[in-house]
Amino acid sequence: MQMIPRSLKLTALAVALASTPVGAETLRLQTKNLTLEFEVGEGGRLYQRPLGTDMKRERLQRADEAYPQAGDGYIWEPALQVVHADGNTSTALVYDGVERNPEAADREMVRIKLRDPAYAFEAALCFRLHRDRDVVEQWTEIRHHEPGAVTLERMASSSLLLPPANVELTHFYGDWANEMNPVTERLTPGTKVLDSKIGVRAHQFGNPSFLLSLDGPATENSGHVLAGSLAWSGSFQFAFDHFGERVRVLCGVNPFASAYHLEPERTFATPVMIWVWSGAGFGEMSRKLHGWAHEFGFRDGRQPRTVLLNNWEATGFDFDFNRIAGLFEPAKELGVELFLLDDGWFGNQYPRVNDHAGLGDWEPNRTRLPEGLAPLAAEAVKRGLRFGIWLEPEMVNPKSALFERHPDWVIRQPKRELELQRNQLALDLTRPEVQEFEWNVIRDILSVPNVSYAKWDCDRYLTQSGSAWLGPDRQSHLWIDYVRALYALMDRTAKAFPNTELMLCSGGGGRADYGALKYFHEFWPSDNTDPVRRVAMQWNYSYFFPAMTLAAHVTHWGDRPMHFACAVAMSARFGMDLDLAKLPAQDKAVCAGAISAYKRIRDVTHLGDLYRLEPPQGAMRGALNFVAPDRSRAVVFVFQLKEGQPLPVRPQGLDSARKYAVRELNPAPGRAALPQEGRTFTGADLMRDGVVPSCAKAVEACVVELEAEP
Ligand code: GLA
Repeated sequence: MQMIPRSLKLTALAVALASTPVGAETLRLQTKNLTLEFEVGEGGRLYQRPLGTDMKRERLQRADEAYPQAGDGYIWEPALQVVHADGNTSTALVYDGVERNPEAADREMVRIKLRDPAYAFEAALCFRLHRDRDVVEQWTEIRHHEPGAVTLERMASSSLLLPPANVELTHFYGDWANEMNPVTERLTPGTKVLDSKIGVRAHQFGNPSFLLSLDGPATENSGHVLAGSLAWSGSFQFAFDHFGERVRVLCGVNPFASAYHLEPERTFATPVMIWVWSGAGFGEMSRKLHGWAHEFGFRDGRQPRTVLLNNWEATGFDFDFNRIAGLFEPAKELGVELFLLDDGWFGNQYPRVNDHAGLGDWEPNRTRLPEGLAPLAAEAVKRGLRFGIWLEPEMVNPKSALFERHPDWVIRQPKRELELQRNQLALDLTRPEVQEFEWNVIRDILSVPNVSYAKWDCDRYLTQSGSAWLGPDRQSHLWIDYVRALYALMDRTAKAFPNTELMLCSGGGGRADYGALKYFHEFWPSDNTDPVRRVAMQWNYSYFFPAMTLAAHVTHWGDRPMHFACAVAMSARFGMDLDLAKLPAQDKAVCAGAISAYKRIRDVTHLGDLYRLEPPQGAMRGALNFVAPDRSRAVVFVFQLKEGQPLPVRPQGLDSARKYAVRELNPAPGRAALPQEGRTFTGADLMRDGVVPSCAKAVEACVVELEAEP
């Protein structure tokens, strides 16, 4: 029977394994509450103790290898599979030392070096330990000095061993407009694979993030939780290999059709796998991961976001200068701060008046915008709004001047009929001319005076992964080299335009990953903006991503009451996608109230800690609250999904001793005031007795501010 300790903070270290030769090394990588422990065993191979156990084996076995290699005795799913320059298909890595470097007071970088005694081939297991947050970034660097290229068939970022008993996996599946549905299952013997093979994005059908609970089901406030998120915007693979007494979790790029020929003296660095540990359930895990993300995961993480108005749902492709300029005044009156012009502003030979033509031809359309973008941006600024613009630099419609000039620039398979998605093709970003073309497009658009925001879209994935540029020997590089070139482009953009805010979008939530997000400020979680659907979707994204990264726009999707739609959007990064001039007066008043409430609370919802209170899936309602870092304020959201009783909702994370005044923000017209409105209670009372919300009918919401007495 396997013993799993309550706390993973291992105190005693059992160095003396029976088979460990004298002088063998034990390596302990530690954050505050998590220890990763490695042993150098017989023959110098590197082994890992299953995470969170004090299992002492009589002999270290091959199944315990830290980063198993194919071809020399390891018979399960390997982390590394290589064909050496001379054709040998086996690799055998032995320990070759460790480098440890403190990077900051609570941050350490560790590189465990491995080498193959028979080949000039080496790998480094790299760990960046964020001690206070219990976050570990892990990746692998592979390098060699063999006489010719070696072929990497598999190259995992991470290959962690877990104890086998009672491991529960929660992962997230979906499709366009239906992203991020959770499913939880017990891992059983065999290999469970989660992956995507769509190349230019990781997500749509499955997100590259998951949750593991290590000793049976976890809850928001209890259980040992290990969450993982792969920072990669291309095809990925997670393999949960359960064999006998071990579970190995292999994470990285998808080996599918991705053999990589690595030249001598070049380093192949895998994408980063982000791990976060909590001994107290999913809530604490998310707060730690969010804390890391605010600092390292996305841009300007300490700057609350503006109120945005987008024209996509309001006008679609049907607009010109006057139609758009006409949206500015009502927007400003309502309190909007930033306007985003969406698709449809470009193309002349093939005007972009629908999604069939013009993509790739990035000159402003002369009929719609005779003087270009600058006067429209200037007009917005004159009315007191910032101005943003939509672009999709990686794509082309066959009906475009660009495609006519450069048919060989697209990703396609020779001798196959072109397979279009949304009438478009992806440009081959591995080709240097395409890299330069896309950079010029981005640079020119973002250099238009007064453009200070952009939405970077990507509305298809790869289905015919051929590159005329890569040639016959390197077709399998496309998946990896595309994403690397994409990151180079995003990095160049972020560096050249440090003050331009960027939204990551990919036909809905296709790029919901920390690989791309680090160059961006926020991402578009889904084209589905029905607030009922968004309550659950935002909840599920919130396991991994802070509220301020989740773009949430009020639209007419689902035809829900305006008050409910506004409340749901206010719990994330608030925006609107409505024709404000056509809004009935009552809805307009609700929107104005929501905007001013959002401005009041955004420092709390964007910079504070999230507590998920009542899960919405299949439930009567969902509820969550945010608490400011100094606990002087909190905001509680209740989203009623089905008719029910106005039962109290119990906030968490308050200061027990302080007294908080209760106040409903932007109350719905015609509803009775909260029973506790205007009264003051201690944090302890509020957390024990709760706040009775003003909502009880389906699609009603209630937003309550708790403000501590000075
Ligand atoms: C994608 C995006 C939408 C919108 C359209 C424009 O579908 O997800 O928000 O920008 O493209 O074509």
